[in-house]
Amino acid sequence: MELTRRYIHINDDDRSLSLREDRAPLPGADEVLIEVHAAGLNRADLLQRKGLYPPPQDASPIMGLEVSGTVVACGEAVSGWSVGDPICALTHGGGYASHAIAPQSQCLPVPEAYTLSEAAGLPEALLTVWHNLFQRARMQSGERVLVHGGASGIGTLAVAICKAMGCEVYSTAGTDGKCRRVEALGATRTFNYRSESFVEALDELGLKGSIDVILDMVGGDYVQHNIDVAAPEGRIVNIAYMRGFSTEVNFLPVLLKRLTLTGSTLRAQNTAQKAQMVLEIREQLFEHLETGAVKPVIDREYPLADAAEAQAYMERGEHLGKILLRP
Ligand SMILES: NC(=O)c1ccc[n+]([C@@H]2O[C@H](COP(=O)([O-])OP(=O)(O)OC[C@H]3O[C@@H](n4cnc5c(N)ncnc54)[C@H](OP(=O)(O)O)[C@@H]3O)[C@@H](O)[C@H]2O)c1
Repeated sequence: MELTRRYIHINDDDRSLSLREDRAPLPGADEVLIEVHAAGLNRADLLQRKGLYPPPQDASPIMGLEVSGTVVACGEAVSGWSVGDPICALTHGGGYASHAIAPQSQCLPVPEAYTLSEAAGLPEALLTVWHNLFQRARMQSGERVLVHGGASGIGTLAVAICKAMGCEVYSTAGTDGKCRRVEALGATRTFNYRSESFVEALDELGLKGSIDVILDMVGGDYVQHNIDVAAPEGRIVNIAYMRGFSTEVNFLPVLLKRLTLTGSTLRAQNTAQKAQMVLEIREQLFEHLETGAVKPVIDREYPLADAAEAQAYMERGEHLGKILLRP
């Protein structure tokens, strides 16, 4: 079977984007080929386009880490997925396209309460949140959690997951409107980082020094602030450092409160590690996806050919939740 694939190419000379066509790749033994219904945008795509986040050697050079769609071909070792199945998947790149390959172990069924478009915004945030909050920070039901970047694709899903798992969630976001929307997703309070200090706001609520788990993508000066608001035995996980990798820190509270500081990137982990995340999610979290209690917030959809416009919209930071491309 020969299929034509439309995909977004990064032009070497000026990093502009153009729509190209080639023959769709064939799935390897453990892979499925998906006719893409929608692909999720991620901030990492913007870095990849600028040449600041090169894809791993064995990954597709095409941007796009997550898709939803329909299975159109299966490798000979694939079991559990068949041609015609609606599916969503974490890809190894290649999502900005009409057809994308994914390892079978990184695929998920489309949850009952989801549209096929909504499912495209799920995989990257779901695995990132699962790995960092549960596998790294060992978050438990009943704990108090602070999610920075509450209005981001990652943050909106993280808030809903924390709430569904019985945690008390606080968050930060960049406008009052975004703060109220993050609260509607389950945060008890969301602090506008442009007009108030979350450290002072938590102090006023009597909560400074009582945050068990912090999910942070901001870094920079937040590294010290996180340490200051953490509870004894607190765990702080960084998934990015948007305010900078370098900062001066007083580590004394790390000793006194026995804190854990950790971090990770999803992309650098191997297929077996991602498969383990998918397994745990299906066993422990999937019921909350099926009911719609945990669902990505979709901000906007763009045609695939307008990928540059979609990325510019993400860069401006006006969105809340996920931005999608539709081939
Ligand atoms: N390590 C991993 O495995 C992994 C996986 C996926 C994503 N990430 C990272 O996680 C972050 C979120 O990804 P995404 O795709 O969900 O991106 P996104 O939707 O574009 O969200 C970016 C978020 O960063 C916040 N932000 C930006 N600059 C800030 C600043 N100076 N101070 C405080 N907050 C600031 C924005 O807040 P407002 O909009 O409220 O202003 C927004 O919530 C990105 O940095 C991404 O690279 C890491």
